[in-house]
Amino acid sequence: MTDDLLARHQAVLPKWMPLYYAEPIEIVSGSGCRVTDANGRSYLDFFGGVLTTMIGYDVPEVREAVERQLRTGVVHTSTLYLIRQQVELAEKIARLSGIEDARVFFTNSGTEANEAALLVATNLRRSNQILAVRNSYHGRTYAAMGATGHRSWSASSLNPLQVAWLHSGDRLRGLLAKLDEADHIEAAVEDLREVLATQTAGDVACLIAEPIQGVGGFVSAPDGLFAAIKKVLDEYGILLISDEVQTGWGRTGEHFWGYQAHGVTPDLLTFAKGIGNGFALAGVVGRAEVMNAVQAISFSTFGGNPISTAAGNAVLDYVLDHNLQENAQRIGAILLEGLRAVAADHPAVAEVRGRGLMLAIELVRPGTVEPDAAAAGRVFELAKEGGLLVGKGGLYGNVLRMGPPLTLSEEEAREGLAILADAIARA
Ligand SMILES: Cc1ncc(COP(=O)(O)O)c(C=O)c1O
Repeated sequence: MTDDLLARHQAVLPKWMPLYYAEPIEIVSGSGCRVTDANGRSYLDFFGGVLTTMIGYDVPEVREAVERQLRTGVVHTSTLYLIRQQVELAEKIARLSGIEDARVFFTNSGTEANEAALLVATNLRRSNQILAVRNSYHGRTYAAMGATGHRSWSASSLNPLQVAWLHSGDRLRGLLAKLDEADHIEAAVEDLREVLATQTAGDVACLIAEPIQGVGGFVSAPDGLFAAIKKVLDEYGILLISDEVQTGWGRTGEHFWGYQAHGVTPDLLTFAKGIGNGFALAGVVGRAEVMNAVQAISFSTFGGNPISTAAGNAVLDYVLDHNLQENAQRIGAILLEGLRAVAADHPAVAEVRGRGLMLAIELVRPGTVEPDAAAAGRVFELAKEGGLLVGKGGLYGNVLRMGPPLTLSEEEAREGLAILADAIARA
């Protein structure tokens, strides 16, 4: 049955939209942190549809909130009318954002959220120059793609922005890789000053950065880098956009937002993925004077619609009521320790990194930092064979990514670890 679906998929969908696995699977049901495919095979899910099924599958609180809204007969009204669910969710996000006097604009996806953030920043600053980070991913629309520093995802050179590039926090490769944390921060700040002096006309609108680079393989700069960078940005009035599409809502364990590891508050924060737990919901939050800077009317037909915001409210309440940030920290620590123990026995694992329930392992040719995408591919397939779904990523496709639902239990974490350990040993 899946074979037939694969042929039909290939016959009508574009080939640049990748499918995972040599034998792609169709997920037909899910509960908690487990899914079942069309062949009746069940898997523990450590990827959650790319960190999006944030509180697990088939959560009654979310289902009931959406069904309640459906029963009103109103799926859509447009934002030309008041939407109670949208206002309630905006109030919660504004309060949680850490941004003072915040305004929230809802969209349907992360790329649109980043477009909106880039729109307000460039409108406020009357400049189309921005700073972005190598190895970043911000989405597939033109400005977001233009701010994406990742060859595999840069499908076009068309770009409405003038972008100058900062170094990533990669600790394995690149100019800053071998520096300790304090020296890394100092060198990155020096580089920023040089980039501003040599590659821009001075009046730069913003820097857009992910606290932990998601698609880039969970690469992150040393804690505190954003604060050091923002000191320089503030000298020029340049805004900081924190792309929290993967790092938000407590996933990193220690913090509710990724930016909080850096001891600084961004001017704008974008969110997507987990907040809808699968319903299409995303947005940007920022200070009123920044968010209100748009010089024309702008709206999104489906952004903040009654169904997605009903889901968003239920998801966010669930995250807070069940203290899932604390669970991410506790279970993440167990996973990290287990992965580091596995890595110690396998020289092909060059690095285990990440925080909370956002963890990655990078595979190389033993004794080198040469990326080994084939080995990553083997571990990926063997994990599936063992009943575990994980993600792939990284600039060279040699990184395995784990971003399970924040509801993952200790038992499930240990089960997944055992499958991964076996897959790495056999690869
Ligand atoms: C950090 C980050 N920003 C933006 C996006 C784009 O989000 P979407 O695919 O919802 O447009 C993604 C998607 O993976 C992401 O990881």
